[in-house]
Amino acid sequence: MIIKGDIIYTEKKEGYIVYENSYLVAENGIIKGIYKNLPEKYKKKEIIDRTGKLIIPSFTDIHLHAPQYLNRGVGTDRELMDWLRIYTFPEEEKFGNIKYAEKVWKSLINELWECGSLHSVIFSSIHEKATEKLIELFIESGMSAYIGKVNMDRNTNDTYFENVEKGMEATENLIKKYEGISEKVKTIITPRFAITCNEKSLKKQGKLSKKYKIPVQSHLNESFGEIEFTMSLFPQYENYSDIYNKNGLFGENGEPSIMAHCIHNKEEEVKLIKKNNVYPVHCPESNANLISGIMDVRSFLDMDVPVCIASDISGGHSLFLPKQIVLGVQLSKMKARFENNLSKVIKNSEAFYMATKNPGSFFGKTGSFEKGYSADFLVINIENIIMDIEKRTVEEKLEKWLYIGSEKNIEERYIKGEIIEKPFRN
Ligand code: GUN
Ligand code: FE
Repeated sequence: MIIKGDIIYTEKKEGYIVYENSYLVAENGIIKGIYKNLPEKYKKKEIIDRTGKLIIPSFTDIHLHAPQYLNRGVGTDRELMDWLRIYTFPEEEKFGNIKYAEKVWKSLINELWECGSLHSVIFSSIHEKATEKLIELFIESGMSAYIGKVNMDRNTNDTYFENVEKGMEATENLIKKYEGISEKVKTIITPRFAITCNEKSLKKQGKLSKKYKIPVQSHLNESFGEIEFTMSLFPQYENYSDIYNKNGLFGENGEPSIMAHCIHNKEEEVKLIKKNNVYPVHCPESNANLISGIMDVRSFLDMDVPVCIASDISGGHSLFLPKQIVLGVQLSKMKARFENNLSKVIKNSEAFYMATKNPGSFFGKTGSFEKGYSADFLVINIENIIMDIEKRTVEEKLEKWLYIGSEKNIEERYIKGEIIEKPFRN
């Protein structure tokens, strides 16, 4: 496959790599190279001509809650613990109804496709059947995802929880059922957070991760109220991260662990995140909506920790990752100004890297255009938002799209060099 256009990506966090009006070449879905002048041996091949359009790596949304899809924009005037109890748990509970689940899942998958997030890492609800349905619909879509049945056995409401044995049995059933079934869609161990999982449950989930070599996702250090409650439930542990770590859920056994938020961290926790295989995830809209705080992204970037940026719907309200990229940059500027330390400012290219290459590395080689990477990319037409298009550099065109464009500008989506069509009819 050979495609021609304005190619831009971030191999390193320091800045974009740009190939204006160039050719991206892939064989069997794997990138061979990018050329300003096409080598002789490729000249007779068919060329997909997208001259004047942007070609960028597809996005990876590494943290979102599928059963919160219909709740986007609801209850954003509450802090985390009240928001969970009043709005979130009652909505997630509805996914005991498989018909309701199927309808919502299809809309969500369609919208992820529209937004160019061709890889995602997802919290389902506590329901085994609804989670199976989500996995199967993803397999049908041709897009890639890690999907986890949520585990919670306490501190919720009177009806939305399950006992530890039942939760663990369902988790193991799903792992076994989908082991080796799909290259693209896999399961992930999902303790909601330490507050809703007793120690026995955490231990068992750590054991399942090790036994089946399955990664983990959870939440960490999101809000003051949450942290205080957590430590009151686990007084024998040194800090919040220590609870996950001592129970085999913090990347130490080799399986990576995704931790959403990581805002109010202690120094020892940051060291542990760096030492272990942990992906901290910045969720700018969610952190603003739920008044949680602002992650110190700069520290993680400087330490070369694979820090990512994600939607966290419905803490966040938009699935279109450029919105999270822009707000992530803006929040870093607010933080920098209030702390009077402008080195905290995150560049647009760094935030782009946090939505492409870093989260892509969780899946393997996606999110960049280096040789050997999967040819997973988007074709973007920005004519309607840039009247002076011929005067703009490729970098300016990309950043204008990130700031003032939308998913409507995405004209084509490719995984492994093949077009992915809209998954479901509405
Ligand atoms: N902590 C535990 N559950 C959740 C959730 O659903 N959303 C967010 N933002 N934080 C959480
Ligand atoms: Fe979340």
